[in-house]
Amino acid sequence: MSFPWAQQYQPVNPFMRWMDEKLPLPRLVYNAIGGGYPVPRNLNYMWNFGVLAGFCLVLQIVTGIVLAMHYASNATVAFASTEHIMRDVNWGWMLRYAHANGASMFFAVIYLHIFRGFFYSSYKAPREMVWLLGVVIFLLMMATGFMGYVLPWGQMSFWGAKVITGLFGAIPVVGEPIQIWLLGGYAPDNAALNRFFSLHYLLPFVIAGAVILHIWALHLTGSSNPTGVEVKQESDTIPFHPYYTAKDGYGLGIFLLIYCALLFFGPNLLGHPDNYIEANPLSTPAHIVPEWYFWPFYAILRAFTVDLHIPFTSIVIIEAKLLGVLAMFSAILLWFFLPWLDKGPVRSGHYRPLFRKFFWFGLIPAMLVLFYCGGAPAEEPFVMLSQIATAYYFLHFLVVLPIVSMVEKPEPLPYSITEAVLGEDKAAVLGENAKPVGV
Ligand code: HEM
Repeated sequence: MSFPWAQQYQPVNPFMRWMDEKLPLPRLVYNAIGGGYPVPRNLNYMWNFGVLAGFCLVLQIVTGIVLAMHYASNATVAFASTEHIMRDVNWGWMLRYAHANGASMFFAVIYLHIFRGFFYSSYKAPREMVWLLGVVIFLLMMATGFMGYVLPWGQMSFWGAKVITGLFGAIPVVGEPIQIWLLGGYAPDNAALNRFFSLHYLLPFVIAGAVILHIWALHLTGSSNPTGVEVKQESDTIPFHPYYTAKDGYGLGIFLLIYCALLFFGPNLLGHPDNYIEANPLSTPAHIVPEWYFWPFYAILRAFTVDLHIPFTSIVIIEAKLLGVLAMFSAILLWFFLPWLDKGPVRSGHYRPLFRKFFWFGLIPAMLVLFYCGGAPAEEPFVMLSQIATAYYFLHFLVVLPIVSMVEKPEPLPYSITEAVLGEDKAAVLGENAKPVGV
């Protein structure tokens, strides 16, 4: 939304004036992330993660491009080329660790970004499109992450690819042809490795395009804020620069501390040791586990252990494996419907007592259990715990949220963002310059 009080871009010298006339790129930046973009004055640190995600995307693209200069996407030499990067290429070990741990940091940041959205109901009108594009980005990120992990051609790369592409085989009739078509053969080999490399290189740029749309859609409505009350007057906002450039800079500093600690002191902490063994189609690892950021969805996949039968007969309607596949994909796809499943008039979880309880004591524990069980062996008690957590996960979004949003009585909201920050002092609330939106 363009607020009438947004500061106007003023070119500072003849070159910038010329530039502004020929290609007003600096004006675009000024209006997007500069002084020309008024933002709610009460954004907390949960609003840092969008910018951090953008930083991660750039980091992954830059480190990925340089890695690709030394990597060979051929099944006979892929593993050796990765070792060559680690041992022979100048700073190659750092590049590889920067990329692998960068992926972990990217997902950590995105999970926090998404859960911020859940708590503050950022998905609600008028920001549905921002949310929907976000879900598309998340799906693209998962595809990119999965294909990236196959490239070093270690044991987990190979068997992970086999398990995940094998899931398509569970689809009746067309499953097997799809699986063969995806892999370019009957098992992961050279054809699969090559196409995964090609797509792994391409998708980050598709993600970058989707991020531009995401930010564009966000700028049409403006950011929400921890109260969920929309901007009403000038005193509710402050210019993005210097206030949020400074706050995001601080967040970036903390992010870099954690990232560097991981990169330099525990680069393999989040990886699996079996991926330092070259892929061997004749030796199945004891436990096939994906990267940690896939664990919740992997736990949902493995939670289905019994085929669906016609009652009192042995006729199978849907095999357990297919049920798992459907549930795993549905677990993310249902996020597309969130803006319409949550019917509550109030956005922020701070003013929704019942919603808040189900969020902290329902959704968050269920997600943590799924995270843990996805990385654990497929045996008891992890299977049963995954089943309980999966049941709650779906119940939360499909039953609890719609009902709670209809029956709960929200707590009183502040009149405005200014009031939430400065209290009920009328002079402060209305402020000298306070003008209602549109005046
Ligand atoms: C590469 C990935 C992504 C990037 C670079 C990105 C970037 C951003 C940025 C810069 C903002 C504004 C600052 C902020 O609110 O934190 C934002 C807001 C938002 N993002 Fe993302 N995002 C990404 C992925 C996602 C995903 C996966 C979702 C949800 C599934 C999502 C949902 C949202 C929503 C709903 C907002 C508006 C929040 C509000 O104003 O309350 N984003 N994003």
